[in-house]
Amino acid sequence: MLISGNGSNLQALIDAVEAGRLDGAICAVISNRAEAPGLQRARDHGIPAQVLDHREFASRERFDAALLEAIEHYRPDLVILAGFMRILSDHFVNHFSGRLINIHPSLLPRHKGLNTHQRVLDAGDHEHGCSVHFVSCELDSGAVIGQARVPVCADDDATTLAAKVQRQEHRLYPACVQLLCTGQVRLTDRGVTYQGQLLPPTGLDLTDSH
Ligand code: GAR
Repeated sequence: MLISGNGSNLQALIDAVEAGRLDGAICAVISNRAEAPGLQRARDHGIPAQVLDHREFASRERFDAALLEAIEHYRPDLVILAGFMRILSDHFVNHFSGRLINIHPSLLPRHKGLNTHQRVLDAGDHEHGCSVHFVSCELDSGAVIGQARVPVCADDDATTLAAKVQRQEHRLYPACVQLLCTGQVRLTDRGVTYQGQLLPPTGLDLTDSH
């Protein structure tokens, strides 16, 4: 898994593995920031955690080449971005095509990029949420696996919305990863399939109503 910060989504995946809800193991965590709290979360659970500081590389391509090599050392079936705040070069994305996934705090294709919670409020949206998607070369534009929705209420601000969305993220990401681990979801030439059926562009609706 690749992180840059808090690692609450990493924690949700660790918890899912430890609770037997995920048919997989997290073989390593790599952060581009040494101060990322998620590194300690990994170490607390016996997962190898490594820092690869992008500032030590002369170019994006060189950093991505070193990152690719560090990842391939573990021969993972999936490469999971969880709050990894770096744009990845085409070579990296193409190398891991079909097994590189990301979680984004909006209902894609709405609100690609940063500051999604404030932008939802500014746009007057009544609904917000999060998306898990395969990563493609265009930012936040890869095929969507699943989404979870939250209502936007009159008294919401960016902070309350972020908290609501993160609660959904912590269920959505393990659920999507499990569908990949069990081979029920795949990226094909036609788009994302679930149990062999082509999904709509918004993927599976995995909203938790509890
Ligand atoms: C998550 O909310 C994730 O959706 C977002 O960063 C947060 C990381 O939180 N990702 C992006 O904005 C990617 N463009 P975490 O470190 O606590 O998992």
